[in-house]
Amino acid sequence: MSISRKRIVIGLLLMAIGGGGLRAEVPPYRRATLPVEERVEDLLSRMTLREKILQLNQYTLGRNDNPNDRNAVNTRLPAEIGSLIYMGSGPEMRNRMQRRAMEETRLGIPILFAYNTVHGFRTIFPIPLAQACSWNPRLVEAACAEAARETRLTGIEWTFAPMVDVARDGRWGRIAEGFGEDVHANAVFCAAAVRGFQGTTLSDTLRIAACLKHYVGYGASLGGRDYVPTEISRQTLWDTYLPPFEAGVRAGAATLMSSFNDISGVPATANGYTLTEILKKRWKHDGFVVSDWDAILQLVNQGRASGRREAAQLAFLAGVEMDMTDNCYRDHLESLVESGKVGIERLDDAVRRVLRLKFRLGLFDRPYTPERPETERFQRPEAMALADSLAAESCVLLKNDDHTLPLAPETRIAVIGPLADARDHLLGSWCGRGEARDVTSLYEGMCAEFGAENVRYARGCDFNGEDRSGFPEAVAAARASQVVVLCLGEKRQWTGENASRSTLALPPIQEELARVLSETGKPIVLLLGNGRPLELSRLELLCKAILEIWQPGTAGGKPVAGLLSGRWNPSGKLAVTFPRTTGQIPIYYNQRRNARMDQGSYLDLPDTPLYPFGHGLSYSDFRYGEIRMVSSDPMVLEVTVTNASSRDGAESVMWYVSDPVCRITRPVRELRHFEKRMIRAGGSETFRFEVDPLCDLGFVDEKGDRFLEPGEYWIQAGPRKFRLFIPEE
Ligand code: BGC
Repeated sequence: MSISRKRIVIGLLLMAIGGGGLRAEVPPYRRATLPVEERVEDLLSRMTLREKILQLNQYTLGRNDNPNDRNAVNTRLPAEIGSLIYMGSGPEMRNRMQRRAMEETRLGIPILFAYNTVHGFRTIFPIPLAQACSWNPRLVEAACAEAARETRLTGIEWTFAPMVDVARDGRWGRIAEGFGEDVHANAVFCAAAVRGFQGTTLSDTLRIAACLKHYVGYGASLGGRDYVPTEISRQTLWDTYLPPFEAGVRAGAATLMSSFNDISGVPATANGYTLTEILKKRWKHDGFVVSDWDAILQLVNQGRASGRREAAQLAFLAGVEMDMTDNCYRDHLESLVESGKVGIERLDDAVRRVLRLKFRLGLFDRPYTPERPETERFQRPEAMALADSLAAESCVLLKNDDHTLPLAPETRIAVIGPLADARDHLLGSWCGRGEARDVTSLYEGMCAEFGAENVRYARGCDFNGEDRSGFPEAVAAARASQVVVLCLGEKRQWTGENASRSTLALPPIQEELARVLSETGKPIVLLLGNGRPLELSRLELLCKAILEIWQPGTAGGKPVAGLLSGRWNPSGKLAVTFPRTTGQIPIYYNQRRNARMDQGSYLDLPDTPLYPFGHGLSYSDFRYGEIRMVSSDPMVLEVTVTNASSRDGAESVMWYVSDPVCRITRPVRELRHFEKRMIRAGGSETFRFEVDPLCDLGFVDEKGDRFLEPGEYWIQAGPRKFRLFIPEE
């Protein structure tokens, strides 16, 4: 071999040795090219007991910015922590904390930053209850993707959303946070939200991990109060409360949050049946469960644990991997493991689940967030346009006598009421980093739509109280106008967490303002901004038209005014029942049948709600053809809907199933499929329902097993019904 070839060979050898040496210095868990599971196992094998336990703790920096949450913790944080609820609005502080975790700890495990991005981060979309009324999961998915983007650009990679608690009691303030009273609707919107937040891969740097909450049954809170027990049979658990969570898990949701409620004697945060048997074993969820805020500690209040140590043991063994803020794991898991009360396998399994998510998110490989200014992070035009469309599609036209709406362009309008110029209250609860100054008020929206010269404003009164001094000005404004647009509703703090109300009626002062204005003889168009179904029996009599606008978010008055002018055609339908009075609760569309069909009603009230689930008017006139079966295997049903008006409009066709006789009695009808489509003026669209007999016609039993019985079934779409027959095998 020549000298020069020798040199090359020696050089190559040295490089190989050197390279090998370098590789040996980089532990496998740091190598981005290795499979996640390999990295997890390698890291786990290097961790001390203390390091493992710190991964299972979630801390918070600053206050929990929910005004109703009285807990505030701001401690000096160890750098090895598993997760942090980050209340900042910029990535700089977050990066500083992350640098400590990466550079000042033995193993350099990144912190997972979390936040309640519920219906937007800075661009605020309508509250989830409103979103459900759009019946447009595509829009909801897109909104969650925008929310994820703003959140992630701020350095937060995990949101505590979506909330998929089926909720049927409007007194419960948290009804605003979920997708309404129906099981299937919650399941479909849950999956859409998970897709929107997470995208197709968690390593996408503009997406965030989702957290299905509150697992499970929180929506059944007794009397609509918060934090109270729930009475839920195994049957109801399976047929009502679990399905949205199952849909979310199937959609790939990275995490779940255990709920505050006691489920018929077993608190949800210490419930091995739901957390381990169902979630981990049956659904094979490989992510983790975080407790709700202090929920482990609250096992003591609930009478399940004698103290913090036992609470930690119960929650951990039941299947809660991460402790949100109450430090029960931090303080007691070590001794629980050392005393053998908690096995090391369970501990490793929990840590593995947390690390897995950090690896999947790419946090080990890209721990820092680019520090971009707000203008580059928030409210990009696409997000604002989406906020507009989703708000427009979420509003529900409850009443429109004599075609009062849409209003003609030159109409002289009095915009009156406590909500007319209140930006903040249009944001709703859990509105993230949303700012009132970004919101278009209802009054501003009306001025922009109809011309400021045609619009007068008077506040009339406050949201509550007894001050009537603004009434004369409001009456004068009404008299000087052709129509009154009356803006009533709730303050944003009246719904959300720890915000239950004993009545669904608006405070008397608001109803009184409506009465006084109705005496002017001017037609009243009522705009309602609220986060729960309302009791409208008295108000309804005073108004020609009612548009439920919910809490529309940043877009606020813009889309609402567009609906009043006809620039938008209303297409929302109620995802929750509006009772005649609060005393009708519980009232929801799919209750089980009555033993005496036409008896048993209240003596002082009809049996029906004021506005049923699915109610919502349009400026178009939709006519349903007969339901046809176009194929029996696979089973496909179709219905053609014609828009018999001169306006384009969108219709949501809801497909319901009824099973008249079953070994487990079933709700009168169950929503199984829905689809929203634009139908051109004078045109028709054919909607399909591809029936999967076991899923769509069958039911679930108290063990969670689906079954399909032979016999008769009825399918309903709009006013049409179709009889199906499932033969004996
Ligand atoms: C709420 C959760 C929320 C958590 C963190 C709790 O009080 O119930 O929904 O995600 O706080 O802020």
